[in-house]
Amino acid sequence: MNTPTTVPEILTHLDAGVMTLTINRLERKNAITALMYAAMADALVAAEHDPSVRVVVIQGHETIFSAGNDIGDFLNKPPSTPDAPVFRFLHGISSFPKPIVAAVCGPAVGIGTTLLLHCDLIYAGDNAAFSMPFVNLGLCPEAASSLLVPQLMGYPRAAEALLLGEPFTAETALEVGLINRIVPPLEASVLAHQQARKLAGKPLPSLIETKRLMKKTLASVTAERLAEESISFGRMLGEPASREAFTAFMEKRKPDFSGV
Ligand code: COA
Repeated sequence: MNTPTTVPEILTHLDAGVMTLTINRLERKNAITALMYAAMADALVAAEHDPSVRVVVIQGHETIFSAGNDIGDFLNKPPSTPDAPVFRFLHGISSFPKPIVAAVCGPAVGIGTTLLLHCDLIYAGDNAAFSMPFVNLGLCPEAASSLLVPQLMGYPRAAEALLLGEPFTAETALEVGLINRIVPPLEASVLAHQQARKLAGKPLPSLIETKRLMKKTLASVTAERLAEESISFGRMLGEPASREAFTAFMEKRKPDFSGV
């Protein structure tokens, strides 16, 4: 393997079998750049093969999980090939064999929500706000969310979330089964780590086999959908609607889709 990417915006910490990945770019609301995806993808590969890692925790800050993909990156260096860091990360998290626990507080936008579809236990602060505004950005779903979101919440609610791009609260996320529990924001990371430590004390082969069996029905269709979405998403990143949406975001104005 090449030298793993490490960046200060992705903190990694290993303690008693639990590897914590912290998204740490508060000044940009934890928006994720290509380098950050590369760091997370490399950390997951290392965690998969490192026997001292039994469980992974993914977290942001108690005020923000992630504002999704960095919009400046989308404009200036859009991921155009299947081996782009974002797609490497999505492949890595969706096929990660060991348990992943997430702590989510504040906004979780775009991939900030869709990456959760590949976590096993999710603890949310009562300030969590989930959204998948791909259409509003001239894009389409990623992370196999076009498959997994309708499957999780039923088509009508999925249409509100994915066609209208409407945000939803922690209560709704709990009701539809996206998350496990709602707690005060400062407690989400504590609870995620408590649960991760419980998992880390269990026999790892049993955890891996149980996760594999629970995910088996959807594993190959998920991988297929991920690949299909990546192609569409990559293409749409170069089209006029998304260019207008990203430029409007950078210029702090409403996008004008009248021409597309
Ligand atoms: N990419 C790049 N920069 C981003 C960003 C993103 N996805 N999200 C936020 N930022 C930047 C803002 O431009 C702002 O920069 P500035 O200080 O130079 O003006 C800074 O982070 C703070 O963001 P702001 O919007 O002022 O914070 P907020 O608390 O009012 O709102 C969000 C937080 C997450 C709700 C809001 O920033 C947002 O909607 N971001 C875009 C989300 C998005 O569309 N992501 C793509 C999904 S595919």
